[in-house]
Amino acid sequence: MIKNKKQFICQSCGAIYLKWIGKCENCNEWNTINEETTYKSNNQSIKLSQKQIEFENLNNANVKYTRLKTNLNEIDRVIGGGFVGGSVTLIGGDPGIGKSTLILQIVRNLSTQNEQCIYISGEESLSQVKIRANRLGIKKSPIQFASVIDASAISETISNLEKNCILVIDSIQTMYLPDIDSSPGSITQVKACAHELILAAKRTNSILIFIGHVTKDGSLAGPRVLEHMVDTVLYFEGDRNLQFRILRSVKNRFGPTNEIGIFEMLNEGLFEIKNPSELFLSDRQKNLPGSAIFAGLEGTRPILVEIQALVNPSTLPSPRRNVVGWDISRLAMLCAVLESRCKISLSNMDIFLNIAGGIKIVEPAADLAVAAAIISSVKKETISFSSVFFGEIGLSGEIRKVIQPELRIREAHKLGLTNIILPTKQKIIKDNKMNYYDMTLLSDLIDLIINKNRVS
Ligand code: TYD
Ligand code: MG
Repeated sequence: MIKNKKQFICQSCGAIYLKWIGKCENCNEWNTINEETTYKSNNQSIKLSQKQIEFENLNNANVKYTRLKTNLNEIDRVIGGGFVGGSVTLIGGDPGIGKSTLILQIVRNLSTQNEQCIYISGEESLSQVKIRANRLGIKKSPIQFASVIDASAISETISNLEKNCILVIDSIQTMYLPDIDSSPGSITQVKACAHELILAAKRTNSILIFIGHVTKDGSLAGPRVLEHMVDTVLYFEGDRNLQFRILRSVKNRFGPTNEIGIFEMLNEGLFEIKNPSELFLSDRQKNLPGSAIFAGLEGTRPILVEIQALVNPSTLPSPRRNVVGWDISRLAMLCAVLESRCKISLSNMDIFLNIAGGIKIVEPAADLAVAAAIISSVKKETISFSSVFFGEIGLSGEIRKVIQPELRIREAHKLGLTNIILPTKQKIIKDNKMNYYDMTLLSDLIDLIINKNRVS
């Protein structure tokens, strides 16, 4: 490699500038631009290659890949049934959320299946990792550990292994290639180290797991480009003050996305939660306005969560809209629809919306439950304790159908909730043990909550 000129690269979005500026013009972040030296191969290697490439027919492709199960059900489901040989997985999350703990538990399980597991930590020393392993009760597992940051040494070692292995890099931001003249964690270093390690892992058909940091806005730190280089991207999230942790797949070349696995962080490590709905509804209070249950779907799994709204007259010129666990712009849209189609005045009200339990909801199907919680809070009317809502709300106040209604209803039934409030257009096979309330327009929902009218 020969040295190329200096460049100024935004550590947040990867935009390149010729001179330093305080604010990135691409992503509008302040103070994210660092000077870095980029490298280019020398002229000989850029000469046009005389080699011809061979094409293959997709029809005849003989694709077979084996999956290595971790035997932790929540993880196996999220990654699509186990790790695929030669695959690269990136797991991101806030500091202290439990990434190293989760991965150590995963490699412990894999190491008991006669797999060679190598755990490289650039952040912690052997004694620190030993303390964690002690805490998890896994000190006898045959995991091989090293505390190094030199990515070229790791890649060399992996390439010389006789058998494929499972390689964990904790974290990719601490890795360093001595040939490159920028500090660990910079975009150039992270990209180059990841590339080097991925090549070594693919060469030996090893399973590579990167741990990555996230920035304050919640995306994977440094380069989003890293997300393009790997096969699977997982986020490990949750509120550090609560003990629940959620593993979410956001990209998966070998399985589904948007599956979640739910764990509880206890003193002896992470434990799977088999019935999350029960857990999310366990602290529910009876007869309080502003609370509605949403029958949601996370990947293939139905989950019931409590949506809480508090609507209060505001003393501020521009009233507050505070949201935890939901999309704030979706709330603004819903408020506008409630105001213009149902004449519910919210413009001088503070609105606080909370998804109980620290879970984040992205499905539009939650609209109906959110609207119900807001109406219930504004009108100080409680919602029946056994009601469950799902349905998307359109701009004209119409209630639109959602996917997998039966799965949601079955989950509600399992937890003894019998009143299902759903879109009229939703085609379902009705079970006579349940009560169904069909909604065509938002005004039907208001009728139901305020006048306790049975609509269907
Ligand atoms: P860690 O895996 O080090 O987080 P990360 O790698 O994401 O930075 O976990 C850190 C937190 O988890 C720490 O605050 C202590 C807590 N913890 C437990 O509560 N129980 C445990 O068994 C372990 C190992 C950690
Ligand atoms: Mg860690």
